[in-house]
Order: sequence, then structure tokens, then C-alpha cells
Amino acid sequence: MELGLSGKRALVTGASAGLGAAIAEALAQEGVRLAVMARREVPLQGFVARHGAAAIMCDIADPDALDRGADAAAAALGGIDILVNAAGAAGPIGLGGDDAVWARDFALNFTAPRRLAERLLPAMRSRGWGRVISLTGNNETHGLNTAGAAKAALTFWSKGAASEVASDGVTVNAIAPGRLWSEQIRNRIHPDEAERARFIADNIPLGRFGDPEELAAVAVFLASERASYVTGTTITVDGGMARAVR
Ligand SMILES: NC(=O)c1ccc[n+]([C@@H]2O[C@H](COP(=O)([O-])OP(=O)(O)OC[C@H]3O[C@@H](n4cnc5c(N)ncnc54)[C@H](OP(=O)(O)O)[C@@H]3O)[C@@H](O)[C@H]2O)c1
Repeated sequence: MELGLSGKRALVTGASAGLGAAIAEALAQEGVRLAVMARREVPLQGFVARHGAAAIMCDIADPDALDRGADAAAAALGGIDILVNAAGAAGPIGLGGDDAVWARDFALNFTAPRRLAERLLPAMRSRGWGRVISLTGNNETHGLNTAGAAKAALTFWSKGAASEVASDGVTVNAIAPGRLWSEQIRNRIHPDEAERARFIADNIPLGRFGDPEELAAVAVFLASERASYVTGTTITVDGGMARAVR
């Protein structure tokens, strides 16, 4: 299938690790020119060495740094056709959790992707083509999680924004990951092998965590010309976990 992606220009946040890194690689393989954004320079420079991209080091939770990063990415590529909001982090928290923690986690998981999209959307609309794809999360959460609430807000923002820009050839969608191998899954969320095996047996019909490339394929499709009639929706990539949640 011809995806119509060659020569398009994409900004991928969270591209130093995990799902964002896999999406950036998959887009590069389709001939997309990339700006990759994260705080850590070394992995971004590795990507630049492989694909000749623009590396933008920035803490996206800082609005001024984010605006400067967005402008630098657009200047480096001559414009951005595709935005992939992949940066984020889970934030388990209890009732009565600190307001400062809620504010910090909303800044990362909701305000940053919304603000970045709203900065890049006007140029996409005036060119008559654009894609915004945001990674959200499992919508069937058990415990309290700051990121879960922020991602729910991002899901609703995506739906609303999709209808605002639909007539200009721009689509806005979300991908809801279940459990895919990444730094945070390996090191923070499921570090223990026995717990991991129990979690998989209880929750994931496909019987394993996903590979980042399995989600990246969905992101590439949503970014492509072939997804022109898909907007305002969420595609879940979770090995069947949403249906199996107890
Ligand atoms: N993997 C899963 O199964 C899963 C499940 C549910 C939701 N998600 C969502 O999918 C997205 C990717 O997750 P992942 O599992 O691939 O995570 P990961 O391996 O921890 O990678 C997170 C990425 O976000 C970047 N990032 C974090 N905080 C940042 C900040 N303040 N400023 C700039 N960049 C920042 C990190 O780069 P630096 O550290 O270099 O800044 C890194 O590139 C996240 O939004 C996450 O919430 C993933």
C-alpha cells in the first residue's frame, strides 16, 4: 500500500525512548523528514546520525521551552505536517494527592500536547493538510493516576479539535496503548517478572506485552494519506486488554 508519506515533515515528542522512538523510526522508514524532541540529547543524536533529523532538546512541561522547541522544529523542516505527541509519564497517586503533583503531571500529559498542537495547527490548516496523533492510555483505569486523568482530557480535546479542523484537511486522533515494552513499563510500572506474568495472565488476552513497533504501525497509518477518513477517534492497541479488565 502506498502511504503517501514520503517528503512529509513530522515532529515527534518523546522520541528519545519507548513508543515515541519507535514511531520516529517507522516514519523515517517511510521517507518522512523528522524533528525529534525530548530532554535527553544522546538518544536524539543517535537518531540524527541514522536519519539526518533535527534534534530538539526541551522539557515540554515548560511552556516557554515548548514554544521555542515547536518553532525550532518548524524552522528546521520548513513546516510541520504531522505532529505525534508521544511524550508522557504515568503518575500513580492517592486520594488527597499534592496539588503540585497534579499540576506537574497535567502540564506534561495534557497541557503540553494540547499547546503544541494548537501552535502547529494554524499552518497545517492553511496548507490544507495535517495530522495530529496523541498517545493517551488505557481508559479502564483501576487506581488513581494523574496521567490517566490528563490523558482522558487529551482524548476529549482531540475529539473537539478534530471537528474544528476537519474542513481544512487536518485529522486529529489518539492511540490508546495498553502495555507495550518501553522504558517506563520495564523500569517503573512492571519491574518484577513474577508480577508481570500475573498481570499478563489476568489482563491481556494476547498473552504478552506489545512491541513498540506494533503501535508504531498504527501511528504510521494514522499519519498517512490512507487514513484521510479517520478523525476524532481513538484506536486502542492493547492486545485485547480493554475487554479483559476486571
Ligand atoms: N508503554 C505503554 O505501555 C504505555 C501505556 C499507556 C500509555 N503510554 C503513553 O505512551 C507514551 C509513551 O510512553 P512510553 O511507555 O514509550 O514512555 P517512556 O519509555 O518512558 O518514554 C517517555 C518519553 O517521553 C519523554 N518525556 C518524558 N517527560 C518529558 C518532558 N518533561 N519533556 C520532554 N520529554 C519528556 C522521554 O524523554 P526524555 O526522558 O529524554 O525527556 C521519553 O522519550 C506516553 O505518553 C505514555 O503515557 C504508554
